[in-house]
Amino acid sequence: MAAQLVVALLAFTSLSATAEPDCKELVKPLVLDSHSPIYGKWVLHVGSWDKHGLKSDLQSVHSSWVDLSPTSDSGVIALYWADRLNEDKCLQGAANITISGITSHTAFIINGHTSYHDGKYYETCSDCLLSEDTTLLPDGKSKGRYLFLFTRTGALQPSELETFKKQAECLGFLPEYHFVNTDLCPDGREKTSPAGQKTEEDDTENQPAED
Ligand SMILES: *[C@@H]1O[C@H](CO)[C@@H](O)[C@H](O)[C@H]1NC(C)=O
Repeated sequence: MAAQLVVALLAFTSLSATAEPDCKELVKPLVLDSHSPIYGKWVLHVGSWDKHGLKSDLQSVHSSWVDLSPTSDSGVIALYWADRLNEDKCLQGAANITISGITSHTAFIINGHTSYHDGKYYETCSDCLLSEDTTLLPDGKSKGRYLFLFTRTGALQPSELETFKKQAECLGFLPEYHFVNTDLCPDGREKTSPAGQKTEEDDTENQPAED
């Protein structure tokens, strides 16, 4: 009787293992602390979304980079971000990311409007940053999620892209992707320039993406 039970349990375990692709292996949230490998400058390579309505917002982004740095408060990460929306338009700003365990909370103030985001980071390729961003509506409910894969240079190996697609599937994202280029906005922290003035000569270290 006991042996039969063990056999039945083993059969059940292997069945469920084949039914679910190894999502448990693929999707491991990072516990965020001062040792997390998330600091420094990151260049966006690809993003995905979980609701069709989120697609157009992301598609307006031509390039994006972020810089994450620790602060004197171990529960707070300083974020600087810069998005290129088209040839001439760069949006950038700073925000504080408040950390609690595997989730983070950020308020972005863009053109006078505040937008609230919950974030999670996952284990990914080395020199990559995988970040899930939930946009919150004013009532605190989710408007939907984006999944972003950043790398140090903006370039990504094909095998790393395949892993990203599997991770996105495990996390319930649509099999749709927006690839951005590495025509990065200059770092507005280095020089303060009046709006409209070009600062393209800045060292943006552009490297072509490997498409
Ligand atoms: C981040 O937090 C620090 C300390 O509270 C504050 O001085 C700074 O203005 C904040 N930065 C932003 C962009 O909100």
